[in-house]
Amino acid sequence: MLNKKFWNEKKVFVTGHTGFKGSWLCLWLHYLGANITGYSLSPPTNPNLFDLCKINDITNTVIGDIRNYTLLNNVISDFDPDIIIHLAAQPLVRESYSNPIETYETNVLGTVNVFEAVRALSTKSNKKRVIVNVTSDKCYENKEWLWGYREDDKLGGFDPYSNSKACSELVTSCYLQSFFYRNNQYGIALASARAGNVIGGGDFAKDRLLPDCVRSCLDKTEIIIRNPNSLRPWQHVLEPLSGYLLLAEKLYNDGYLYQGSWNFGPSEKDTLTVNTIVDIFLKQWGESAYIKIEGENATHEAKILKLDCSKAKQLLGWEQRWDIDEAINKVVLWTRAFINKQNLKKVCLEQIEEFELKSKQ
Ligand SMILES: NC(=O)c1ccc[n+]([C@@H]2O[C@H](COP(=O)([O-])OP(=O)(O)OC[C@H]3O[C@@H](n4cnc5c(N)ncnc54)[C@H](O)[C@@H]3O)[C@@H](O)[C@H]2O)c1
Repeated sequence: MLNKKFWNEKKVFVTGHTGFKGSWLCLWLHYLGANITGYSLSPPTNPNLFDLCKINDITNTVIGDIRNYTLLNNVISDFDPDIIIHLAAQPLVRESYSNPIETYETNVLGTVNVFEAVRALSTKSNKKRVIVNVTSDKCYENKEWLWGYREDDKLGGFDPYSNSKACSELVTSCYLQSFFYRNNQYGIALASARAGNVIGGGDFAKDRLLPDCVRSCLDKTEIIIRNPNSLRPWQHVLEPLSGYLLLAEKLYNDGYLYQGSWNFGPSEKDTLTVNTIVDIFLKQWGESAYIKIEGENATHEAKILKLDCSKAKQLLGWEQRWDIDEAINKVVLWTRAFINKQNLKKVCLEQIEEFELKSKQ
């Protein structure tokens, strides 16, 4: 359960706020009463959740590149945030094979830039600050284990995206040891968060399963499925976001007890094959659609990926609230609202409220 009093008027700096997760996060922070500045490139897709929900109206938005240290530093310095949630990234595996340099520059040097800008600010204006660096479940060295990865398992990452997220984890670890250790002079508490594949209304990214299903149903075209038998941890986007927010709250209130890395994945029963997810989606969508299974993907992707989230459950009190059926149902409801041109900001806020209420039950 998040503490609304804690978040009210907190100054929160969100990178990647024009993206899918970032837009949902801004809506939630707005619901909690936070004062938000967002720093990102323009929304990565068209249409996109940022525009559909008018995130510009609830944030102070700066369109800028995370690789531009001077601009980033000025914006962070002017805003003087309490909490920094770093989401900006090149987040697609396939794209990372086409553009490895940009992927590493954005995902690794971008992280260094954020940490450096916050560190520089803390030498000028000394107050308590928290950074949550969002990486990925793909940061682990994938051994195709049947059990979940724990936070202290070996980092790796086969493809440039996954590997860049492992590098971002190493940068986090370096900053924790070199600068932001317990009772550091900067007053900064830092943690990283590793979550699995998220789904939710308003994701229009290419090469992601549910957006591909939604697009096919809207256009009445075949659903192309890559890696149908791959097992992935699926969860609604609000699940890891609740983890990031809870983690930030704990880091802020209890100093350095919560520094380090945290997994936020779904329960064992929601680690399902790509094929099963498509079946659940089609059943809920309720109209016939053609499915085409393309067979195994030419580029390498892990077949089994599970997270062990015992640490977050035990030490943060974090828990999954919506199972996969409920999560997909929320995507279907959101998409129907999108087709019917309803007020999507309202739809998202209602889903956030419903999610919050579920934790009180
Ligand atoms: N969506 C998932 O299933 C998933 C799973 C695990 C981790 N993640 C991580 O969550 C974060 C957000 O992912 P998402 O799904 O919202 O992706 P997204 O593509 O919807 O959003 C990415 C955001 O980063 C910004 N961005 C990209 N390059 C930038 C640059 N050079 N400078 C400034 N901003 C830049 C974009 O403008 C956008 O706001 C990423 O770090 C991603 O790796 C996502």
